[in-house]
Amino acid sequence: MKTYSYKKSHALFNRAAKVIPCGIYGHFSPAPLIPVSDYPFYASRGKGSRFRDVDGNEFIDYMCAYGPMVLGYNHPKVEAAAAKYQKAGSCLMGPSPVMVELAEYMVDLISGMDWAFFAKNGGDVTNYAAMIARSATGRKKIVAISGGYHGVAPWMQAPGHHGLIEEDYVNMIRIRWNRFDEFEKAVKENPGQIAGFIASPYHHPTFVDNELPGDGYWQKVQALCNKEGIVLIIDDVRCGFRLDMRGSHVYFGFEPDLVCFCKAIANGHPISALMGKNSLKSEAARVFYTGSYWFQSAPMAAALATLKELRRINGPKIMLERGKKLLDGMVKIAANHGFTLKVSGAPSMPYLRITDDETLMLHQQWCAECTKRGAYFTSHHNWFISTAHTDADIKRTWDIVDEACKVIKKQYM
Ligand SMILES: Cc1ncc(COP(=O)(O)O)c(C=O)c1O
Repeated sequence: MKTYSYKKSHALFNRAAKVIPCGIYGHFSPAPLIPVSDYPFYASRGKGSRFRDVDGNEFIDYMCAYGPMVLGYNHPKVEAAAAKYQKAGSCLMGPSPVMVELAEYMVDLISGMDWAFFAKNGGDVTNYAAMIARSATGRKKIVAISGGYHGVAPWMQAPGHHGLIEEDYVNMIRIRWNRFDEFEKAVKENPGQIAGFIASPYHHPTFVDNELPGDGYWQKVQALCNKEGIVLIIDDVRCGFRLDMRGSHVYFGFEPDLVCFCKAIANGHPISALMGKNSLKSEAARVFYTGSYWFQSAPMAAALATLKELRRINGPKIMLERGKKLLDGMVKIAANHGFTLKVSGAPSMPYLRITDDETLMLHQQWCAECTKRGAYFTSHHNWFISTAHTDADIKRTWDIVDEACKVIKKQYM
């Protein structure tokens, strides 16, 4: 099997490092890609489940641009819908009627939600949700999960990160995932002071196994929030439309007050949404919140087309099933070589780890060996499955996994 080289990618990165902080910053930074020499940095095009890098290497993409790609790159229905509005003028002096259509469609689609508000990034709407919770309750504190990610606004970042001041996080209470007792304790110790509880539908931190909610966890959290007047905010930015079209809260059987969507909502077009219950609608209207490009019609049309298509084909079911098939096969192949591949999280966005080496080095090497043979895997973050991943992709991935296992077995065992 041929292995890839990345001459152009790495040359571009060297140029970038001179004029762009970090060369590539944020979640696309090569920092967690180990060994970094085995990964491409710059992409040139995508179609279906695959993308090409600037060196012409083709990859089956198991990161899906970190989530936005859900129906496959360059999906004809989504691109046609966006192109129609782009041609007419996407950023005009006022919103387009498609904004109303999208809001109506999402209110019909998402369980228990009565209104929708659109922005660009996931962090725009998680921040707005916290502002609404504070405005509605007149309280300051927000409870969140240790290791939970909601974006890059200062209050969302962990103490110690550069650029933060103490005031950014003094009103944040971080508790452990699945520890309802810690939430109860926080409520008891901060009577009448907690505005909101924010968490993703299940816990998907980086570098460690992901964790589904324990039996009754969400139902107990919801009951306590309702009793104490705490706004329950679900950050469905990552899981949204990969577990259930009606919102991941339906998958786990509870009812939040506010739900944040982004990533998969428009198959790569820039748009996010905050949805909420009627009880918070006038409060949402009171909080001033907007952005230069938040009314662009093309991403709204792309979102409408994406959601309609995902609903038509029952996208989450496809992704959960394909993910399961892929992962079951991979676990077996790894076991044939004497490796234990542990899968956690939902099969449509699994986190994997070879557990035979606690330092993660063996696992990192294995992910890199797969990547440089054409199955793009990261070792630190959950992966994403799309509806465009085919049986042929899965079969090809199994072959790559098999060969990568042979290579690392020689090095490590
Ligand atoms: C669960 C979750 N919330 C919020 C965000 C922030 O979204 P964005 O990067 O679009 O601001 C992310 C991004 O990865 C996320 O995974």
